Amino acid sequence: MIILVTGASGPAGQAVVRRFTGEGHTVVGVSRSAGPGTPAEQPGKHDHRQVDLLDFDAVKVLAAAVEAEHGRVDGIVHLVGGWRGSKTFAETGLEDWDTLHDLLIRTLQHVTLAFEPLLKASERGRFAIVSAKAAERPTQGGAAYGAAKAASEAWTLAFADALEGTASTANILVVKALVDEGMRAASPEKKFPGFTDVDRLAEAIAGLWDTDANGTRVDLTRE
Ligand SMILES: NC(=O)c1ccc[n+]([C@@H]2O[C@H](COP(=O)([O-])OP(=O)(O)OC[C@H]3O[C@@H](n4cnc5c(N)ncnc54)[C@H](OP(=O)(O)O)[C@@H]3O)[C@@H](O)[C@H]2O)c1
Repeated sequence: MIILVTGASGPAGQAVVRRFTGEGHTVVGVSRSAGPGTPAEQPGKHDHRQVDLLDFDAVKVLAAAVEAEHGRVDGIVHLVGGWRGSKTFAETGLEDWDTLHDLLIRTLQHVTLAFEPLLKASERGRFAIVSAKAAERPTQGGAAYGAAKAASEAWTLAFADALEGTASTANILVVKALVDEGMRAASPEKKFPGFTDVDRLAEAIAGLWDTDANGTRVDLTRE
């Protein structure tokens, strides 16, 4: 398959690149900075592109390049994120909203709008975002974050509606927080209760090809 991973250099992105290249697929990974190459001894390939997903024209050029080079896209995993917040509601900095709007909503808008035709044309395309429990139960200091994640969920559900009647789907995976090997190594005494390992997240994303469900929220904290 041809899998686009936006946010490929983050902890989750690297796990998803590993998972799909490990299964022999071709991953087109995107981040602003230089990304990791193909993980060692993987049968698949990781072709990394440096694209600013806040630049809509650049995202359209990316979609045209993927179509020209591969003729199709089978999956898009949107893994751009970030967190801003404060201790109390009163201390909320509205500049945090601007940052989160760009990271969590605007990049998603650009990717879905630019890749909709390719995903609709796919034989069995899959689109996914990773949302947070904070969208349904925000803390007072996480007002901007919770609201931005809730908006990205609503946007994804609208995209799922646009895909109805095609062979492609869009779904939301929900976590409380993610943990990876680097975090565990840095704090060996910590237990990370309720966190989802990035490798488990990658497995759940791969599992989206086992179902035709569209527009669902898959809550990984219930496992
Ligand atoms: N980490 C958690 O605990 C947690 C909790 C709930 C949900 N999530 C969600 O899970 C997903 C993955 O999280 P993560 O922690 O692995 O990664 P992350 O730190 O949230 O995202 C970082 C990735 O996004 C890329 N990125 C940011 N702005 C970009 C832009 N304008 N253009 C292109 N790439 C851009 C970064 O590339 P550069 O470094 O090159 O900018 C990097 O590859 C995110 O959607 C996040 O919201 C995470």
